[in-house]
Amino acid sequence: QVTPVLLCGGSGTRLWPLSRRSYPKQFASVLGEETLYQQTARRLSGSDSAFSFAAPIIVTGTDFRFIVTEQLIEIGIDPGAVLIEPEPRNTAPAVLAAALHIAKTDPEAILLISPTDHVVPDPAAFRKAIAAGLPAAGRGDLVTFGIAPDRPETGYGYLELAAPPDDEGPLPLKSFTEKPDPATVKRMLEGGCHLWNAGLFLFRARDILAAYEAHAPTLVEPVRKAVDTAQPDLGFLRLDPEAFARAEDISIDYAVLEKATQLSVIPYKGRWSDLGSWEAVLHETPQGPSGTATSGAATAIDCSGSLLRSEAETLELVGLGLENIIAVAMPDAVLVADRSRAQDVGQAVEALRARS
Ligand code: GDD
Ligand code: MG
Repeated sequence: QVTPVLLCGGSGTRLWPLSRRSYPKQFASVLGEETLYQQTARRLSGSDSAFSFAAPIIVTGTDFRFIVTEQLIEIGIDPGAVLIEPEPRNTAPAVLAAALHIAKTDPEAILLISPTDHVVPDPAAFRKAIAAGLPAAGRGDLVTFGIAPDRPETGYGYLELAAPPDDEGPLPLKSFTEKPDPATVKRMLEGGCHLWNAGLFLFRARDILAAYEAHAPTLVEPVRKAVDTAQPDLGFLRLDPEAFARAEDISIDYAVLEKATQLSVIPYKGRWSDLGSWEAVLHETPQGPSGTATSGAATAIDCSGSLLRSEAETLELVGLGLENIIAVAMPDAVLVADRSRAQDVGQAVEALRARS
């Protein structure tokens, strides 16, 4: 059995105005009818001959506690434990809280840590990769999943292999580097021995706890206290605010994985996108002949390389002669951006926050 841990506390500002502070992208229907969170929960449920998924542990913020359960019930999946963070402290405390919670009853439990804002359209390939990682996790490895890079992306973690990947894995990892600078990324891609970290991790609860003890010991005391003194509330488990606030705000990649020694990787061959920006959404949306994608109440006339999307039923969005433009209309906000600035949309959100 594999217990999924669904991380859904991020804010996803680069997909503004679809992704909002009160309703971040993982809870929105970015591609397809179901939300990204629902698609993730569905992919991480059910069973086959190789293994079965237990009910997920969900780690999220106070504001999203009702959304996370409602959206699962809507698709017929039972939520397991829902751990509520009093404030976001990034992924290291969130994963640690989930591991401590399950270790109380089952330290041998195998956890699959998953982001909830990714697109992984081939469930069979996905399950095969998880099954391939299970023996390594059972031996005590922290198992990562690697994607063959196709561009010099600096927003990802990089997994270093001893040699270019040529089989299904698990392959031992030489090192893990989170978000390297552009010059380092260039060197890594030239070498051909690096994969992107997909952001999914498979390990036993007791092994990740030992890794926190070894590499991030200062996180353990506050998060343990936050879990041990958590308040049950309407089926949610509210982590203790005073203790959790003392945990450092840091990602699991920096806090643990960069320093861990017993790491392995399963090269993932299926399609994968982290939908980090409107550029990524454009790539994943069916495009017309000139590379333009429309969705909702949007019409493109003589446009090329553009994304036009209207989520507002009463708002017709028409693009005429646009080149490389991102236009996204919501009932209360419209973004019009040059496609080359897709990574900078967070700036728009900051500007609006500064004004309000
Ligand atoms: N519960 C909770 N609390 N979830 C969080 C928090 C938090 O404070 N912060 C982030 N998350 C969730 C996000 O919603 C997302 O689903 C996941 O954790 C990963 O966080 P991101 O903030 O999106 O990480 P990233 O994209 O910068 O980097 C990670 O993912 C990359 C692949 O997409 C790293 O693991 C990289 O190494 C990796 O390449
Ligand atoms: Mg991300």
